[in-house]
Amino acid sequence: MKNLHIPAICVHAYGGPEQLQLEEVPVPVPAKDQVLIKVVASGVNPIDWKLREGLMQHPLPYIPGVEASGVVTAVGEGVFGKKIGDEVYGAVDGSYAAYAISPAELLFRKPTHLSFEEAAAMGGAKTAWGALFDVARLAKGQRILIHAGAGGVGHFAVQLAYNAGAYVIATASAENIAFVTALGADEVIDYKAAPFETLVHSVDIVFDTVGGDTTERSMGVLKPGGLLLCIVQMPDPEKVTAAGIRAVWGGTKTLAAMKEVHKMLERDLIKPYVRRVFQPLSQAAAAQEFSKNGGPGRGKIVLKISEE
Ligand SMILES: NC(=O)c1ccc[n+]([C@@H]2O[C@H](COP(=O)([O-])OP(=O)(O)OC[C@H]3O[C@@H](n4cnc5c(N)ncnc54)[C@H](OP(=O)(O)O)[C@@H]3O)[C@@H](O)[C@H]2O)c1
Repeated sequence: MKNLHIPAICVHAYGGPEQLQLEEVPVPVPAKDQVLIKVVASGVNPIDWKLREGLMQHPLPYIPGVEASGVVTAVGEGVFGKKIGDEVYGAVDGSYAAYAISPAELLFRKPTHLSFEEAAAMGGAKTAWGALFDVARLAKGQRILIHAGAGGVGHFAVQLAYNAGAYVIATASAENIAFVTALGADEVIDYKAAPFETLVHSVDIVFDTVGGDTTERSMGVLKPGGLLLCIVQMPDPEKVTAAGIRAVWGGTKTLAAMKEVHKMLERDLIKPYVRRVFQPLSQAAAAQEFSKNGGPGRGKIVLKISEE
């Protein structure tokens, strides 16, 4: 397949959605320990538009996308446990393309009970697992406040914390309260109706997936010595000390987190929710704009690239 070209979205300069150019690029060739997949669906995450806008640096040019589901079409030297025809999902850099490569160990067998669209939406689960368990060591019986319980990360965090036996309080818009309750939250606070800090207190952990003033406002709802677990921004260290709490960055994504999440997915203990599917690949700009400005959300946004 070396000389073949495939459609892919390319970013040559930071900027608005117009920077997402549909182009023809050479099909990537899997190196040692890598797998080539035909991408069926790509997850669309806030990091995609943040990178495109230059809020975070990425070498240019690049193909956006960090996760996908698809079918294995070639394997590199040394790959065991993955073969041509396998249906897989996982971490895939450059997933806004008809084909993409990834290290074989970052791809997992797609459970048959999951659609390709659902499987492409699993990235938030490993973020949530890494933050809650690798970093915060969430334990049974602890009280946790999860901000944005309906969001791409938050809806997994609620399910994971519920499964761990924690007492789960989440924030969400009124239209998402029933959804977040069904995921396992003991209490859901409509954050638009009243300031959450007037309704919740004495939690062991706040998982902040929102940022902005939510980060600082969360300090007062923690027990003395409680943990503010951040994946968007870190608070001012002086304010953390003054509040008598701890703050930590939770944005680690380990292979161990992916394996744990995959085991739970196979046992049907967690479920990805897809908010909206955009298709075909040329809709990448619309999908990113929806991710940035789409209003109340419930689960993940997906870009469908091909039929399986
Ligand atoms: N550091 C890392 O490793 C890492 C990894 C993944 C994500 N992130 C970051 O984490 C953030 C969340 O990602 P995501 O994929 O979950 O985003 P997302 O799905 O786009 O988040 C949308 C959700 O945010 C909720 N929301 C918005 N403002 C809120 C507020 N003030 N209080 C409570 N909820 C609010 C909305 O809830 P309603 O619809 O109910 O209003 C909606 O469900 C992003 O900034 C992303 O870049 C970081």
